[in-house]
Amino acid sequence: MNLTYCIIAAIKIGLGTWFLALIFIMLYYLFFTKQQRPSPSNNAQSIPDHRAVASFGVLQDRSLQNRLIARAIPNGRLLDAFGIDNPFTTTSVITYRRFIQKVGPGLHGTKPKKWLKFFNAASTTLNLILLQHRSVRYSLPLAALVRQLVFVSILHAFFGVDPNNVNLHDVDIATELINLLWVQSKTTPQSYPLGGRVVLEVALRQILPDKFPCSAKDHPLNIIIPAYETMWRVVLLTFISAGFRNVDQETADQFRKVIERGPECFKGSKSKDIRTMAVNFAKEGLRLYPPTKRVYRAVLTGPRSPPFITYDEKIADIEKCHRDPNIWTNPEQFRPSRFLPEEFTDNMKEAYLPFSLAPHRCPAADTFAPHAIIILVVVLARGLGTLESGSNVWFRNARLDEDRSALLPSGRLDMEDWKLEMKDVA
Ligand code: HEM
Repeated sequence: MNLTYCIIAAIKIGLGTWFLALIFIMLYYLFFTKQQRPSPSNNAQSIPDHRAVASFGVLQDRSLQNRLIARAIPNGRLLDAFGIDNPFTTTSVITYRRFIQKVGPGLHGTKPKKWLKFFNAASTTLNLILLQHRSVRYSLPLAALVRQLVFVSILHAFFGVDPNNVNLHDVDIATELINLLWVQSKTTPQSYPLGGRVVLEVALRQILPDKFPCSAKDHPLNIIIPAYETMWRVVLLTFISAGFRNVDQETADQFRKVIERGPECFKGSKSKDIRTMAVNFAKEGLRLYPPTKRVYRAVLTGPRSPPFITYDEKIADIEKCHRDPNIWTNPEQFRPSRFLPEEFTDNMKEAYLPFSLAPHRCPAADTFAPHAIIILVVVLARGLGTLESGSNVWFRNARLDEDRSALLPSGRLDMEDWKLEMKDVA
């Protein structure tokens, strides 16, 4: 389908006036060019190609303004789905800088007290969630449970929310709707049931009454989406990979130590070895199951103003880089020790991109995200148990249930049937 075809079609079907033909062409540009996406991964791309896309090297002019445009266009669906106005969706340099200045500093704190507080808040949250499920401990809905845990923990970290004051029913609604709206934004763009957004807004107002009313720039979803949405699946998949799947003896022994010593391992230089081990579990979870599987950049090829924008969409396939057998030994195996300095080669370093690359590398990459992931995994392992302690996970999928080495699916709706059977947890 091309422009000429559109014009001929418009005239042939007898719309009659140039005015209608023009509207037809505008609609074509507005909807067709926006929805058209190249296939998810280009097999010919090498690691440097993926890095060039992630680091905006594919742009001729890499000014901040142009980088924001190149990112905001493919992320337009997030704006449509959630109305968020943050670094992922904005083309305004001022809005971008304001957000980074507001959120950035809180993401670098390494004080042990902070992590102990985070651990306590997450443990309290899990206990409250388990109280709700006390009658079905043989079949806990893992995905919904982990979503609630991560959501409340993130609200605690970023908005000072006390888990004891949160209505978990509202959290359940909010987390389920965020998931559904996200999936819909990918599969059926431009057709969001407005009802979903409204109910999400109502739930958020109940959970965070102090944050409303607010302008689009100060909406809590601007933080919740990048912080919570990236975290819940990697926390769930790391917990299952380390606690319930086939791992080698070394990894099993390490995980036992991490469960015993986390979060105290963030305390001081004495716990450095355990801390490194713990963080390697988070790194390996992020490698095997990167929450951001792909990053997209729009390279403008024609007019710059809507609705006439035309662009080529470039893709950095992070998941593919992380599972490349030319780079990683047994890439489908969960083995945190591969991140030890003596094993982690320059090629691996180049191919490891869970947080993308400068100049827009995630500000949570170095401290907040890996610490929070492993603490939440430890809270889950202590609260729900592991295979070793007698608990089990059922996937309602013969292949996954029978073969404990099989790679887990990691899409947003792939985990809804996974159930945890709890046994012998103190
Ligand atoms: C496992 C957790 C996380 C992952 C995997 C992740 C991943 C990413 C990725 C891939 C990017 C780059 C996007 C691009 O290049 O277009 C990014 C940027 C960003 N992330 Fe994260 N993120 C995580 C956690 C967080 C958290 C907790 C926050 C806190 C609010 C956050 C805030 C941001 C912001 C503000 C940016 C934009 C940075 C910039 O443009 O300069 N992320 N993240």
